[in-house]
Amino acid sequence: MSENNALNVPVHVGIIMDGNGRWAKKRLLPRKMGHKEGAKTFRTITRACKKLGIKYVTYYAFSTENWARPQDEVEAIMDLFEKYLDEVKDFAEENIRLRFIGDRSKLKPSLQQKMADVEKASENFDAMDCFLAINYGGRDEIKHSVQEIAKMVKKGEISPEEIDEDLITRNLYTMEAPPVDLIIRPSGELRLSNFLIWQSAYAEYYFTDILWPDFKPADLEKAVKTYSDRNRRFGGV
Ligand code: IPE
Ligand code: IPE
Ligand code: MG
Repeated sequence: MSENNALNVPVHVGIIMDGNGRWAKKRLLPRKMGHKEGAKTFRTITRACKKLGIKYVTYYAFSTENWARPQDEVEAIMDLFEKYLDEVKDFAEENIRLRFIGDRSKLKPSLQQKMADVEKASENFDAMDCFLAINYGGRDEIKHSVQEIAKMVKKGEISPEEIDEDLITRNLYTMEAPPVDLIIRPSGELRLSNFLIWQSAYAEYYFTDILWPDFKPADLEKAVKTYSDRNRRFGGV
C-alpha cells in the first residue's frame, strides 16, 4: 500500500470466514474441500494481519448454530480442526499466541486436549493474539459470563450493584482483549450471525462478495484502508 504511514490500523479485527461451501460448489467439489481451502486462507491472512500491525484477530470458525448442518459436514470440519492443530506448530516461528473461544465441552475430548496443548505452547508469544471461535455463539458467551458473575454474587464476593460493563467484558471468552474495531465478512452476507455481539457494539463493518477461500492479503489491506478512512464518533460529534 502506498500511503501506509498514514494508515490507522485497527487494534482488534474480527473475521467471519464465510463462503467455503459456495467456493467448493462453484468448482463442483464437495463442501469439505471448501473448508480445507479456507484453512489455507486462515494461515495466509493471519500472517498478513501480523505484518499490518494488527494486535488481535478473532476468527469465526464454527458457530453454535453450525451443528444444524449435515452430520458428515460437521465431522469433516471437526477432523479438519484436529489435523490443523497438529500442523499449527509452525505458527511458533511467527510468535503468535493462539487461543480458542466458545463452549468446548461439546467437542471431542481429543480435540479439547489438542486445543489446550496449542494454547499452552503459545502462551508466551506476543507478536499478535489470535482467537479462534469454535462452537462459539455471542449469546452463549454472554450467558456464560452472566453465570460466572452470578456465582461470585452467590459466594458474596461482589454485590449486584458492583456488576458493571467491565466485569461482564472480563468474563467473556475473549477476556482482556480490547473491543473489536473492525468486522470483516466475505461471501456477500450482510449479517453478524451471532459473532462477537458484545465486543463489536461500536465496530466498523466491511463486507465483500469475495468467498473466504479466495480472500487475499490485498483484500485485507483494502478492508483496513476502508476502516482507516472512516470517521468513528462513538456517540460524540
Ligand atoms: C463458512 O463457510 C464455514 C463454516 C460455517 C464452518 P460456509 O460453509 O458457511 O460456506 P457457505 O456460506 O455455505 O458458502
Ligand atoms: C457464520 O457463517 C459462521 C462461521 C463462519 C463460522 P454461517 O454460514 O454459519 O452463517 P449464516 O448461516 O449464513 O448466517
Ligand atoms: Mg455460510
